[in-house]
Amino acid sequence: MSSIKFINELEATHTTSLYGLEKIIADNDNCEYLFEAANRVRQKFVKQEVHLKALIEISNICAKKCFYCGLRSKNKSLKRYKMSADEVVSCAKEAAISGYKTIVMQSGESSAFKDDEICKIIREIKKFGVQITLSFGEKSFEQYKAYKEEGADRYLLRIETTNQALYKALHPNMSLKNRIKCLENLRILGYETGSGLLVGLPGSSAKILARDLMFLKKHDFDMIGIGPFIPATNTPLEHSKAGEIKLALKANALTRLLLPEINIPATTAIETLDPNEGRKMALRSGANVIMPSITQGRYHDLYRLYPNKFCLKESVAEIYDRFDDMLALIGDKISLTNGNSVHFNQRQGL
Ligand code: 5AD
Ligand code: SF4
Repeated sequence: MSSIKFINELEATHTTSLYGLEKIIADNDNCEYLFEAANRVRQKFVKQEVHLKALIEISNICAKKCFYCGLRSKNKSLKRYKMSADEVVSCAKEAAISGYKTIVMQSGESSAFKDDEICKIIREIKKFGVQITLSFGEKSFEQYKAYKEEGADRYLLRIETTNQALYKALHPNMSLKNRIKCLENLRILGYETGSGLLVGLPGSSAKILARDLMFLKKHDFDMIGIGPFIPATNTPLEHSKAGEIKLALKANALTRLLLPEINIPATTAIETLDPNEGRKMALRSGANVIMPSITQGRYHDLYRLYPNKFCLKESVAEIYDRFDDMLALIGDKISLTNGNSVHFNQRQGL
């Protein structure tokens, strides 16, 4: 059976059954129809504007052992780094001067940075008048609270998958329950809260993905990032099959249809699978955010979640101009707002 009636239902009402989602995911004959519907919803709810956010990968040290990730602690062949606070702040300053409205700081999950250091960095960067997004993994309520009180605005923590068995198999010594708790804590603390999925993982299925998407809808996140799994060397999944870009784009489009006002990045993993067209395809199937890494050179090459991770070699300012030009070609433009999602602003009554 064709999935068109479910796509139409989603476009009109932003909801459908689990069965409908599963049908759309399994139907490879109507992908363009799905992408076009997501694009229309994107234009209607979040306009032709794209938020450009500068990503700084502050440390690749990680204490966790996620089976898919090149940063897992058991990967002894990766040289580990931790940027100095001064390096992070000056990188953020350069981005702010170049016009970026949001600085995203990401790291593996570890205590390489002490909370005091993180708080100091947040304080310094806030002086540049930008919004701050953090992505440091699972932390305690008190830690999230301390960062928020210093001025952090947003937090990204992907759920990856909501299937208990799959989650358990891929995340030694971690629990889905705690991850959900972290996401709830972030929301309670007033963060603009983002989550997301890793799609095409070995052991996943259309049914699992449909349930994952329903979870995202139910939790009503402000931002959702979806990337295809890419096998990483020196991990237990290095010989597994990569996720398909089309599946990631479908999940991206479904996310836009389910949650029309949120922010959705065109993820680096999608770009990595198709460096020429990936980003454009994602922007045309629901995405409205680009998060280029500005951790240049020696550090970026070490933030190796998976091989050949897409990276632009230009300066922070040149990357800004490059996207300005690229977006003009497809009829979009860089947003000059602070980068909040329409969804978050509405929740705040802004
Ligand atoms: N392929 C694609 N994405 C990955 N991530 C980690 N390892 C991989 C991989 N091999 C993603 C996870 C994590 C984010 C920081 O990077 O989804 O949340
Ligand atoms: Fe660490 Fe995150 Fe990679 Fe898991 S996905 S090993 S927590 S960096």
